[in-house]
Order: sequence, then structure tokens, then C-alpha cells
Amino acid sequence: MAKKDLLGVKGMEAKELKELLKLTAAMKKEVGQRRRTAVPPLQGKTLGMIFERPSTRTRVSFEVAMTQLGGHAIYLDLGGSQLGRGESMADTARALSQFVDAVLARVYKHEEVEELARYGSIPVINGMSDREHPCQALGDVFTMQEKGRKSVAIVGDPQTSVANSLLVACAKLGIKVHIVCPPGYMPREEYLREAEKAGADVRMSHDVNEGVREAEAIYVATWKPGGAEEEGDEKMRAFLPFQVNSAVLARAKKNCIVMHPLPARRGVEITSEVLDSRNSVVWEQTANRLHVQKAILAYLLGKK
Ligand code: CP
Repeated sequence: MAKKDLLGVKGMEAKELKELLKLTAAMKKEVGQRRRTAVPPLQGKTLGMIFERPSTRTRVSFEVAMTQLGGHAIYLDLGGSQLGRGESMADTARALSQFVDAVLARVYKHEEVEELARYGSIPVINGMSDREHPCQALGDVFTMQEKGRKSVAIVGDPQTSVANSLLVACAKLGIKVHIVCPPGYMPREEYLREAEKAGADVRMSHDVNEGVREAEAIYVATWKPGGAEEEGDEKMRAFLPFQVNSAVLARAKKNCIVMHPLPARRGVEITSEVLDSRNSVVWEQTANRLHVQKAILAYLLGKK
């Protein structure tokens, strides 16, 4: 049987997405019930984790997921592996395939996870590339479903990997999307096309107050993930009017939830007042990353 990878939400069938969300719910329920299976499903399995870029949530949730499922994870960064000295992803994939059962990779270029998947004989999981962050998006739509949300306003940069994956995931699950961003920062064409192909109801607005008015959830799409912003930077000037603050929240429905993939730059794309408000579900959203990672691992490694 051909190996399965999780490189992006684009290209995934809605059926597959729903199966992963169902498995996530089962994983979460199992923790709630503190049930112990006789043999942990991933006993003896090892996950290799390549991080070219820093991470808190993705790294820790995957490592804990492996431990809780009975396996374990090995962390590799550029400084502590031959990748930092120029060994190719293709050869790294061939080498890791001799030792571990799956690889998670956070990379700069999406082509790098594609190369890992092409040359490795084991499942590859994209832990965020410049095009997609499928593990984040799965946790996000799971949280929206838990909260019974059928529409979301994605406020901020619609061209980030998080926004790309989220747009397509929502589209495939029938969650209405309202993109709220400055003119000139429209979603990437290929993701918009994929969302429309799924029959999505995608609206766009350049007015933040108008954009959040009907939404059941506001999702803050960070402007430049991982990058330092300079005061006076053109992008900063374009996006500051799209900051999710108390005035913006006051325009939304009273029970509108606020989501953010984190890390948040408090006072930049979102204010502390909103992030710490009763409308914010960011810590539940973060907690769901663990259940989603467990579902992904069980799904790809064939143990459900
Ligand atoms: N949201 C997210 O992926 O967080 P980390 O960068 O901390 O992994």
C-alpha cells in the first residue's frame, strides 16, 4: 500500500478531512475518559522532527502526542544535524527512512517537504512551510466545529501559510469565509481557486468593521509570521488598521469567538484586551493541537 503524507490541505479530499476530525474527537474523548488501551497504538514507533525554524506549539504537541501514544520523537535542527552543513533533503529523507517511522518537518520552502516525501519511504507531515500549515488548520476547524461556528472572518494577511490552509479547510467543510485585508494583499490565487472549486462561499472586504459584522468567529491571520516588523514598514502601515481590538470586537456579534494561531504580537495584530477577553478561545484552540497531532499520527501510521 502506498504511504500517506500530510503536506497540505490543498489536494485533500473533504472526506479525508472529516475522517481526521472524527479521529481527533475520538482522541480528545479518550483523554477525557482517561481510558487506557492495553497496548498504546504507537508503541515502538519513532517520529523524526526536523525544525529549520523555531516552534513552541508544533514541536511540543507532536512530541507529547508521540509519548502519549506510546512512541517517541527525535528533534533535529539545522545546527544539530547534517542539514545545517548542506546535506540535501533527498539524502536526509533516505537516511531517516532507515531509522524512524514518520517525519515531521518545519521548513522555509514548501518544495523541501515535497522532496522529503518524494525521496523518503515513510509518511511526511508538514509542520509549516511557506505555503501551508495543515496541522494548525486542522486544529482550527476542529475548534470551530466544537464551538458550532459556521462562518469565520479571517482578518489580516490572507497570504500566509496558516491562512492558505485555513481557507481551503473551511471551504471543504462548508464553513463560510470572509477575508478581511488591505487592498493589494488578496489570497493567493491557487488557494482561492481550490476553495471555490470546493463550492465555498468566500467574501472579501477591505473594511474591518464591515468584515467582522456577521462573523461567528474572528480569526487573526498574523501579518508576517516569525519576522520582526519595523515601525514605518509599508506592510505595517497597511495592516495596522486591521488590528483586532476592542472597537473591532464591539462591531461583531456578542458571542463571536476570537481565534489566533499564536504566537501573538500583543498590541500589533491583536490587543491584549481582546486576546484575554471572554470571546477569546485561543487556549482551547492551542490545546486542540495535541488531539489533532495524535489523530494525524495515528492516521498516517495506520493505527486508529
Ligand atoms: N502556531 C504554531 O504553529 O505555533 P509554533 O510556531 O509555536 O509551532
